Amino acid sequence: MDRPRITIFDTTLRDGEQSPGCSMNVQEKFRLAHQLDRLGVDVIEAGFPIASDGDFEAVQRISAAVRRPIIAGLARACKGDIDRAWQALQGAARPRIHVFLATSDIHLKYKLRISRERCLEQARDAVRHAKSLCADVEFSPEDATRTEVSFLCQVVEAVIAAGATTVNIPDTVGYSMPEEYGQLIRTLRDKVAGIEQVTISTHCHNDLGLAVANSLAGVQGGARQVECTINGIGERAGNASLEEIAMAMRVRRDRYPYETGIASEQLYPSSQALAEITRVPVQPNKAITGRNAFAHEAGIHQDGILKNPLTYEIMTPQSVGVPDSRLVLGKHSGRHALALRCEQLGHPFERRELDEVYRKFVVLADRIKTVQDSHLLGLIEEVKAAGKKIPPAGADIPFTRVAAAAGSGNESHPRPFPAPPVGAVPAPSITFADHHGEQEDYLWGV
Ligand code: KIV
Ligand code: ZN
Repeated sequence: MDRPRITIFDTTLRDGEQSPGCSMNVQEKFRLAHQLDRLGVDVIEAGFPIASDGDFEAVQRISAAVRRPIIAGLARACKGDIDRAWQALQGAARPRIHVFLATSDIHLKYKLRISRERCLEQARDAVRHAKSLCADVEFSPEDATRTEVSFLCQVVEAVIAAGATTVNIPDTVGYSMPEEYGQLIRTLRDKVAGIEQVTISTHCHNDLGLAVANSLAGVQGGARQVECTINGIGERAGNASLEEIAMAMRVRRDRYPYETGIASEQLYPSSQALAEITRVPVQPNKAITGRNAFAHEAGIHQDGILKNPLTYEIMTPQSVGVPDSRLVLGKHSGRHALALRCEQLGHPFERRELDEVYRKFVVLADRIKTVQDSHLLGLIEEVKAAGKKIPPAGADIPFTRVAAAAGSGNESHPRPFPAPPVGAVPAPSITFADHHGEQEDYLWGV
């Protein structure tokens, strides 16, 4: 059976760019747009053309050069904005005008100072005008999740009648809870005439850390487009993170039986490209793309990973474009990880000899948190100088299979990474010359 396809609408170059410190010039946006194309997003919101000449030019250049995805330009619900967006999109193979207007009472009263009636009229007129220019029109009732539901239904019905092809439901201030957001999408599907003719979209902000959860709940409620950004950048606490949405749907296909066009091995390169362009680093514990996302320091975890990565990894680093999981050597690390790193540094040890290095390693790790390769080489030298029996680099010793199991980069011993979460290929069991049983090995290794 075909799985429903979810349209991935990337707004890194528009909403993402609005986050402090993340603004990009035309050249930078252009470069990232090409990366988003490689990543396989369906829609690139390239900018807000009325906002600045730079944004106009970025939308124009991306429209001319990036031909596969839909290119969207944002516009407020007024003629000047819409005309400017359309002008910028002229060269696009697949243009979309994205019109927005706030609908919550708080925005109508304090920000726009207009009545609900005026809001309804303005939304309808704006969409009608956009539709007269472009077949593909998206409408967003800004602050939808704080809009009275019956009024939201009225607005959505009116913009569909006026020609909108996508209706986006922004949780502009990140206020919603997942079950509430999913229910809102269901309510719109139940109550709005003509809703089956359009694509319903999610657009969730992360003020309570729920942007991804809300987006997924929206999909389960019937939304078929998700708006998101690389590294989750965006206004305030950010937007829903594209990489988390894509991998949640891939890793948990059992719960989210949907397809996206995302080439997952381009997630890490996209994340790195954005971090490099904006000079805003990715938080280390960021899911999927943070530097610790596939790092293991605790000895018990390292031991498990070396025996079979599925013990502590629900997806392979390679599947998201991370070259390999990194075993961080610190005070919680065990002998297995130490042996592997020593071997990678050209110093393979037999079990009893490694114990000597390990004793010194533990003392050092207690002092300096993370033991770098340079420190480790120092320890090895110390042990050697103390006259311990250390075999020369490259000697044929039993730990070789540990390295093969963990992906030493040696092509003749490819890392046996199974595809998550089902159909796992068992990793080779690690054996040692003087191995006396699984349990003993486990205790020694960690
Ligand atoms: O968060 C929001 O409401 C927006 C709209 C412009 C879609 O970014
Ligand atoms: Zn937004």
